[in-house]
Amino acid sequence: MKSIIYSETGDPSVLRLVDRDVVEPGPGEVRVRLVISGVNPTDWKSRRGSSPGESLPFADIVPNQDGAGIIDAVGPGVTGLGVGDRVWITLAAYQLQSGGTAQEYTVLPVDRVHPLPDSASFELGASLGVPAVTAHRALTVAEDGPSRLYPGALDDKVVLIAGGAGAVGHAAIQLARWAGATVITTISSAEKAALASAAGAHHVVNYTQTDAADEIRRIAPDGVDVIVEVAPAPNAQLNLAIARNHATIAVYANNGGDIMTLDVRKHFSLNVRYQFLLLYTVGRQALDAAVADVTAAVRDGALEVGEQTGLPLHRFDLAQTAEAHAAVEDGAVGKVLIEVTAVQ
Ligand SMILES: NC(=O)c1ccc[n+]([C@@H]2O[C@H](COP(=O)([O-])OP(=O)(O)OC[C@H]3O[C@@H](n4cnc5c(N)ncnc54)[C@H](OP(=O)(O)O)[C@@H]3O)[C@@H](O)[C@H]2O)c1
Repeated sequence: MKSIIYSETGDPSVLRLVDRDVVEPGPGEVRVRLVISGVNPTDWKSRRGSSPGESLPFADIVPNQDGAGIIDAVGPGVTGLGVGDRVWITLAAYQLQSGGTAQEYTVLPVDRVHPLPDSASFELGASLGVPAVTAHRALTVAEDGPSRLYPGALDDKVVLIAGGAGAVGHAAIQLARWAGATVITTISSAEKAALASAAGAHHVVNYTQTDAADEIRRIAPDGVDVIVEVAPAPNAQLNLAIARNHATIAVYANNGGDIMTLDVRKHFSLNVRYQFLLLYTVGRQALDAAVADVTAAVRDGALEVGEQTGLPLHRFDLAQTAEAHAAVEDGAVGKVLIEVTAVQ
């Protein structure tokens, strides 16, 4: 089978296309024939490493956490999944040498492989893992709940999503809207505004052209309940200005800088909760809840990808994985997907 690997950290040129043997699944594992591999910023960050020359945990690694495909073999003891099932994948490459989705077949523990509703395309399936699971966590960490998402779960809540044209922002808009929230999002351009509206945001605020705090206060005079934050440092003042009492600021990234300054008194006066999150270490319970609720949202038709629903797709083939990584690294607007094998 064809497989992409890297044996050193670095720029996209470290990614190599090789031929490898197809592996049999062991106990508690399934083998998936990948149709689509999804690329996320975490994939290039892992490949690049945090410092030049950083060593890898394995001699070589297959990249990419997200994907969708069809189960073609099951190991001993596997229940609930069978050959022929359409599936979506979470955290494929996490702590595994050859789990990544940039290859024709991957063998994974069953808890990383989830049934994909019949109505969902493989493109959608490969766009869920990192973005939608992250968005789900961010929307379920408020002090007064909810801890799960379903229609009505966020009724009467106002949610602000920073960067609503990003992949996580897009999933957050769709999940929050499905769950009943009033959804406000910030974006930096007219093009991104159109995408965020297409995703379903009720209110779109271009923070480069308006005083975002004034605009959000005008939309939500009592303030915002939950903020899904990609850029906590640059947005710290904005978030304080629009947070309501007991607001939650769910931080999933450090875009715009690692160090932020907070006015302590003003934050405790508002009982603000800052909740940071990292998918790799968030824990099984949060992942299981997200997988179940995201699958339900997909089944309801509430999560969709493509330009018409706010997330343009950029397609590459497996041999172009380096270009796909470079596109994400260069800030492609939309979802970068790798077409691995054709569906027969
Ligand atoms: N903690 C986790 O487990 C986790 C999970 C998923 C992703 N992440 C991280 O989250 C980040 C985004 O991922 P993604 O896949 O959504 O990337 P993406 O599709 O490239 O979107 C990033 C978005 O960030 C927004 N942004 C950048 N600077 C901003 C600022 N100063 N204020 C407001 N928005 C800003 C941009 O929107 P505007 O141009 O409109 O501002 C852009 O659309 C990446 O750094 C990724 O590594 C972390």
